[in-house]
Amino acid sequence: MKHLLKLADLTAEEILSILNLADQLKYERKNNIEHHHLKGKQLGMIFQKSSTRTRVSFEVGMNELGGNALFLSGNDLQIGRGEPIKDTVRVLSRYLDGIMIRTFKQSDVEELAQYGSIPIINGLTDYCHPCQVLADLMTIREYKGSFKGLKLCFIGDGNNMANSLIVGGIKMGMDVAIACPDGYRPDRDVCDWAEKNGNLLVTSDIAAAARDADAVYTDVWASMGQEAEKAEREKVFKNYCVDQKVMSLAKPDALVLHCLPAHRGEEITDAVFEAHAQEIFDEAENRLHAQKAVLVKLLK
Ligand code: CP
Ligand code: NVA
Repeated sequence: MKHLLKLADLTAEEILSILNLADQLKYERKNNIEHHHLKGKQLGMIFQKSSTRTRVSFEVGMNELGGNALFLSGNDLQIGRGEPIKDTVRVLSRYLDGIMIRTFKQSDVEELAQYGSIPIINGLTDYCHPCQVLADLMTIREYKGSFKGLKLCFIGDGNNMANSLIVGGIKMGMDVAIACPDGYRPDRDVCDWAEKNGNLLVTSDIAAAARDADAVYTDVWASMGQEAEKAEREKVFKNYCVDQKVMSLAKPDALVLHCLPAHRGEEITDAVFEAHAQEIFDEAENRLHAQKAVLVKLLK
């Protein structure tokens, strides 16, 4: 494993190995056991979109591993004034040991990897969010013990989260069910891959997706970059809300997961969110541990 561009590039064994290391690093942190695996290493973090969790967890994670992280705003870099990505990354490769990038186009992340000579980590694109799903898988395994026989349900937009959950879920052997309106389905290539490699249901029928689910996942209706579509999407998605009725179809001990930030009263009710706040914030915490594992795997 040289980069983390998307989960489809990783084998199931590689994903499990990241999750195992993440569990170990979580244990070490809790017990104040030093784990300075990345002493002296420098991570550049390029953000062309907003972030709370990704930025803070990567920065804290690098510090806890004995290294350092630099926040690089896309607006302030010369990228914002038109310097090509392929030049930027060849320069940054001379200074840094790795780059985490949050941006719009997946092809930009792939280009960094193609022209740079250091590991590239995808911190979210319009296409996928692999770091989030590693934390999600870690959380599911923490609560359920294993992935065996589980059904993972996602309700909402067939967006970057849906794409990555399909790939991560199928790779871990879970059944994955996505409920989304027609016209807002996950990417075709992701669905085609999943249909060949596991059990994927994509439907506009929320009940069919939620029935007997072990984990119910949701995300915002309008992602970063889709602000102009917000009003239109509120109409299209108004029934795609994780509420008590949806939860009554899932297994009684089903987890509720959300990558955050959440919009209460839209994709999830306040009551369901608060009833499941424990696992949702464990999931957010696990971003730190899962990403530290990725950093150790790639930068050590
Ligand atoms: N879930 C997630 O990636 O959060 P941020 O946008 O705050 O980084
Ligand atoms: N789908 C959301 C995820 C945020 C973590 C977005 O792209 O804005």
